[in-house]
Amino acid sequence: MSPAADRPAAARISPPDWTLIELPDATSVSEQVAARLLAERRFRPERPLGLATGRTMEPVYAALVRQLAQLPDAEQDRLRERWLSFNLDDYVFPAGRGAAAAGPGSFRHVMEQQLVGPLGLDPERVRLPDGLAPDPEAEARRYAGELSAAGGIGLQLLGLGLNGHVGFNEPPCGSDLACRCVRLCETTRQANAPAFGGAPQAVPQRAITLGLQEILAAGSILLVVTGAAKAPILRRLLSEPPSPELPASWLQRHADVTVLVDRAALGC
Ligand code: GLP
Repeated sequence: MSPAADRPAAARISPPDWTLIELPDATSVSEQVAARLLAERRFRPERPLGLATGRTMEPVYAALVRQLAQLPDAEQDRLRERWLSFNLDDYVFPAGRGAAAAGPGSFRHVMEQQLVGPLGLDPERVRLPDGLAPDPEAEARRYAGELSAAGGIGLQLLGLGLNGHVGFNEPPCGSDLACRCVRLCETTRQANAPAFGGAPQAVPQRAITLGLQEILAAGSILLVVTGAAKAPILRRLLSEPPSPELPASWLQRHADVTVLVDRAALGC
């Protein structure tokens, strides 16, 4: 039984027909998201999980590690053996920047540090696009094919960029775009600079990202938004019709979207 503070303050249908779950803070949001990810892997393992990175997900993965450790040993082993996840995206590292790909900025490194190591997963079962591939467009096609061969995403975890991006689908962006190599907005490079020593110029200019096409084909979607900095973009998302200027707004075309937010993101 979870403590009263972890229970949803309110669960209601938000304007775009999403189930909006408000929780007091990022900690309670993270616990609930982790529990949903774990349940998905335990009870619906047929299709892979879709995973995201970013600061929002750091406490989510920490909660996932804690929750998994509370399961019986045999159940933990079963879960590790059956684990399969596909990350949304990773940066494209220019030739000669191989060391950087292994550094703290790459999402592969983030997943190794936050999930693969602490959960004791086989790295082969935590898939990401290869940011070191010599031909990023070909790598995007290969990654999309690998995901498709695995049956497509079951539950897709998403964070929300300050400019409304999901994955690295920067505005303007159509709802039919598939996995591809993209150029990052300057605002995104600024937002993600802390992982590259603080300088936006150190953030790679390009990335490989799943598109809205693969995201909208997921069985269900969990969008996680925490912190006061996200309040303006969340307000737009909950009030505007779908448009290329707000990539996350295309989620209105999906029938099973749950948005988990804390009070700060709601501007409370
Ligand atoms: C990043 C990632 C997204 C992430 C989003 C929000 O750039 N490409 O997958 O969800 O932006 O990041 P954060 O949680 O750090 O705010």
